[in-house]
Amino acid sequence: MLKPQVYQFYSSKTLLPLQKPFLNGTGPFSLPVASRLSSFNKTRKNVKVGFFSQNIEAAFSFTQKAVGVKATVTVKQTVTGSLANLGISRGLDDIQDLLGRTLLLELVSTDLDPKTGLEKERIKGYARQVSKEDEEVKYEVKIEVPADFGEIGAVVVENEHHKEMFVQDIVLDGLKNGPVNVNCVSWVHSKYDNPQKRVFFTNKSYLPSETPSGLKKLRREELELLRGDGQGERKSFDRVYDYDVYNDLGDPDSDLSKKRPILGGKEFPYPRRCRTGRPQCDTDPISEKRTTILPYVPRDEVFSDVKLLTFSTNYLYCLLHGMIPSLESAIVDANVGFPSLAAIEELFNEGINLPLQGKGFLKSVMPRLIKTITDGGDSVLRFETPPTVHKDKLFWYRDEEFARQTLAGCNPYGIRLVTEWPVKSKLDPKVYGPAESAITKDLIERQIKGYMTADKAIKEKKLFILDYHDWLLPYVKKVRELEGTTLYGSRTLFFLNPDETLRPLAIELTRPPMDGKPQWKEVYTPSWNSTDVWLWRLAKVHVLAHDSYHHQLVSHWLTTHCCTEPYILAANRQLSEMHPIYRLLHPHFRYTMETNALGRQFLINADGIIESSFTPSKYSMELNSLAYDQEWRFDNQGLPADLISRGMATEDPTAPHGLRLAIKDYPFANDGLILWDAIKQWISEYVTYYYPKASFVESDEELQAWWTEVRTVGHIDKKDEPWWPVLKTPQDLIDTLTTIVWVCSGHHASVNFGQYAYAGYFPNRPTIARTKMPTEDSTEEEWKFFWDNPEAVLLECFPSQMQAARVMAVWDVLSSHSPDEEYIGEKVEPSWAENPLIKAAFERFNGKLKELERIVDERNADTNLKNRSGAGIVPYEFLKPFSEPGVTGKGVPNSISI
Ligand SMILES: [Fe+2]
Repeated sequence: MLKPQVYQFYSSKTLLPLQKPFLNGTGPFSLPVASRLSSFNKTRKNVKVGFFSQNIEAAFSFTQKAVGVKATVTVKQTVTGSLANLGISRGLDDIQDLLGRTLLLELVSTDLDPKTGLEKERIKGYARQVSKEDEEVKYEVKIEVPADFGEIGAVVVENEHHKEMFVQDIVLDGLKNGPVNVNCVSWVHSKYDNPQKRVFFTNKSYLPSETPSGLKKLRREELELLRGDGQGERKSFDRVYDYDVYNDLGDPDSDLSKKRPILGGKEFPYPRRCRTGRPQCDTDPISEKRTTILPYVPRDEVFSDVKLLTFSTNYLYCLLHGMIPSLESAIVDANVGFPSLAAIEELFNEGINLPLQGKGFLKSVMPRLIKTITDGGDSVLRFETPPTVHKDKLFWYRDEEFARQTLAGCNPYGIRLVTEWPVKSKLDPKVYGPAESAITKDLIERQIKGYMTADKAIKEKKLFILDYHDWLLPYVKKVRELEGTTLYGSRTLFFLNPDETLRPLAIELTRPPMDGKPQWKEVYTPSWNSTDVWLWRLAKVHVLAHDSYHHQLVSHWLTTHCCTEPYILAANRQLSEMHPIYRLLHPHFRYTMETNALGRQFLINADGIIESSFTPSKYSMELNSLAYDQEWRFDNQGLPADLISRGMATEDPTAPHGLRLAIKDYPFANDGLILWDAIKQWISEYVTYYYPKASFVESDEELQAWWTEVRTVGHIDKKDEPWWPVLKTPQDLIDTLTTIVWVCSGHHASVNFGQYAYAGYFPNRPTIARTKMPTEDSTEEEWKFFWDNPEAVLLECFPSQMQAARVMAVWDVLSSHSPDEEYIGEKVEPSWAENPLIKAAFERFNGKLKELERIVDERNADTNLKNRSGAGIVPYEFLKPFSEPGVTGKGVPNSISI
């Protein structure tokens, strides 16, 4: 049976004259009436006048030729080949398929009705299943489209099944100007869940001012739906994009010690996240209740049901939800450290026995991590040897490697040029003690053995620093009140050798005045005597823990994952899906919201992986808010601006990329600038095409609303900052979009996919330093212990077995590319492919990325580039655009997808 509003057009009871061209569609198994209409149209054309009567054929009236259009809908199956998850293989839905009542399609004209000035009546038809193959099911319907209908601008879909369907695309064949393509890639809810029909615009992009008159209302209404009304708890099939503060990290209802401050607002400035509308906690009305399932994200941000288990987010979910709890039950004492350095290596050889009762599926999901011991049938968590260890077992021990990793490791964002001397704290000396650093010019000159004076080294830009002093010092007292951790402010100074490598000169650790004791600070240097060597080694553990935090929570989570979510929310709320800028950005937002929801659920939550494994412990996220408040500014997120802000480059129009690097062999910057330029060129061509006149940018109300919302809602705590760019000209837009695309692609890849290579062997990058330095207020007994067994002191300072195993497993998964990963510049979007000029621009972009692949290989083979090439050195490939699936240490995905 057809829907009433369709059926009424040819009801045998209707005798009214037909006012408009007949609008109907038929499928191969449609009702008899519809079949007759279909055959009529095939054989009798140019019928002049029609009226409704029992002779339905005579009722057909056309003043012009109608066009027979075949609409083909492609629905994606699950990876297992079953349609079970889509709900279209069983029960009621099977019957619906047999009846042809599956998908109702309505074709929307781009023109208004000239007589009424309203939208033209839509042409409707039921698509019916015609084929079913491994990965997809096709539905078809033949629809008669009157010649004066105008161009088709959208297809409205109603899913008659009881469960949602994942619609890949719709193709309309038979139109005189060729096929019309509608790229959907979207879940379509069941009409029983939500009677609202889904709108899909065709692949043709329009600025708001160019929207065809017949689509204007639909364009506006669709955005209103996506914005929602800000009320109630969101359901899994909803598509509403709305904002909220981070009030879901704590869990006070389960334990008051798990109450956490709200991030977002005056006290703890922070970006906004997606609103889920979950109820408030009973014990803390400003916090949101925790959930045992994954938090809501708009339906199309979750693709996991389509290719179950192959998506990285699912992989991560299995790890956090299934394997980590098993690990926690396998390691009895969570605080126990490793008994020896050799015991750390056992993680790669023997592994940890893992009780996996009832979780056998985890083995199939994570074969890289979980191995079966064939004799006993037991499972072990056994880590793959990271490539760094594979190439050089002692790599973590060497100072030159410690320095090299600041330029070519997984956190190339920490290092900066020393521009002022003496190095001084900006914190209040009354609270934090004397501001001057204890690192003196004499000390520098001793360390560089008179190679040049300290003054000359500063003047010639030879000194670089990891400065985690002012940022950490305010949290030292609080963190030290917690069990199992400690904290200092730290400064690590490096000297630039003539061969462009860095040499660490000194580490300064500072404790502010506290507990009635004055400020404590001490400088450690590389040395040739045993005691100082061990102290230097221990000081390095503290600095590496600080850098690990900076890497994971600032360079990675905050500046990529977290700060991008407002761009995504605002884009979906303010830019129509037919907006060319929406279509440009969309591939760069894939899976980010889902990954972030997973992060809130398991990683950055109270007692989650970050709090339980990183030095600042329960203050990890408060400290993250401080980093956002003090460090984050949008105008420094682009690569050139970032390098300039850290003193790592200066503008120079004569230099490649317009920048002169402070360290010529800075692999991250050298490869990144090629990628940055390629992205910028592609975006320039795209933007120039759609905005041929400068005024088009300012008059684009959707674009302006998007950017205003990013600044004043998503990043509301920084809305009054003067550095926000405004979008007045195409160049403003190019710069802003290039920054966003870079953050989602190059920036994220450079800090994400090397996590296992460099932190998988944790002595190289411990996430936590659990004990203070033996030189700080030690008892005689403590000092003697250090004297007698310095290795034991080091092992006590290192992460516990539990902390190490947990983060190593997480780094392994986070460093992994999914088999369906989409790499930057690899795949042309359907809407880009339909425009020859955009397609050609994209092909040039693709060509430049292939060229970058070659350049990276050449650079890694150049023995003069000692920061990326040499004995035992893992080549720098993080910004090599393409990769195979798995943990490869290369590949730049389009988006922040893990
Ligand atoms: Fe990530």
